[in-house]
Amino acid sequence: MTKTTVTQQSQTIQGRVATAAGLGKVYRRGPEEIHALRDIDLSFETGGFYCVLGPSGAGKTTLLNLLGVMDVPTSGSLTVAGQIVADGEKVRLAEGKRDRLRLENIGFIFIEFFLIPTLTAVENVQMPLLWAGKEDRAYAVELLERVGLGHRLTHRPAEMSGGEMQRVAIARALINRPKLLLADEPTGNVDTRTRDSIFELFRELNDDGLVIVLATHDQELAGRIDRVTHLRDGRLAKGKE
Ligand SMILES: Nc1ncnc2c1ncn2[C@@H]1O[C@H](COP(=O)(O)OP(=O)(O)OP(=O)(O)O)[C@@H](O)[C@H]1O
Ligand SMILES: [Mg+2]
Repeated sequence: MTKTTVTQQSQTIQGRVATAAGLGKVYRRGPEEIHALRDIDLSFETGGFYCVLGPSGAGKTTLLNLLGVMDVPTSGSLTVAGQIVADGEKVRLAEGKRDRLRLENIGFIFIEFFLIPTLTAVENVQMPLLWAGKEDRAYAVELLERVGLGHRLTHRPAEMSGGEMQRVAIARALINRPKLLLADEPTGNVDTRTRDSIFELFRELNDDGLVIVLATHDQELAGRIDRVTHLRDGRLAKGKE
């Protein structure tokens, strides 16, 4: 296995994987301003498993996009994998450096699996490498075995169940050996049994040292995660509702 691999990759980080202080995000649409996040103070420590819980529109995806440096904040400071992404109004890290930071440190999983229909499981898992002009079929196979899909290597998305497709997406998110896994409502499109088995997989990956931030509005799922951050209307809610 791969258990060793995942452990080794996560041992490279010390302390905090991401820190946000006074973080804010305003979306501008013409004259309209939408305050998607306001004054968020959070820190994500090595080895942690975090849940961001909140209703639709609370700002969960916005927060994950900032942590994954897909987007930049409009206020506050943000450090990810030891690099200052933004500080106050200033964005410190240029887009190319953010791309690199993301590629080297972050894995993403979304509610939709975003698999390429014409590619097999093993090819889909390798996609992030191919963009960087690399290839590692052996590691892609290893990861598919890790997520329980050793028997589906050459299946295309249409030949797999929703749960299997999400597992392929998880393997793809791990191919760059990330330190931080961001999962945006990862079990929103699967039945509860599949949800539970995917959650167990997250638990194992976290036990191996991968830091996970899972955004959901599923209170039951959140109840299984130690560190739950409640978001409502873009703000951190105090205590549990
Ligand atoms: N690109 C954008 N431009 C303008 N407003 C946006 C944009 N993205 C999100 N918003 C707004 O920001 C707020 C937070 O959205 P966000 O997608 O972060 O919520 P969410 O908690 O992920 O919701 P859901 O559970 O429905 O996915 C919402 O009011 C939304 O309409
Ligand atoms: Mg969302």
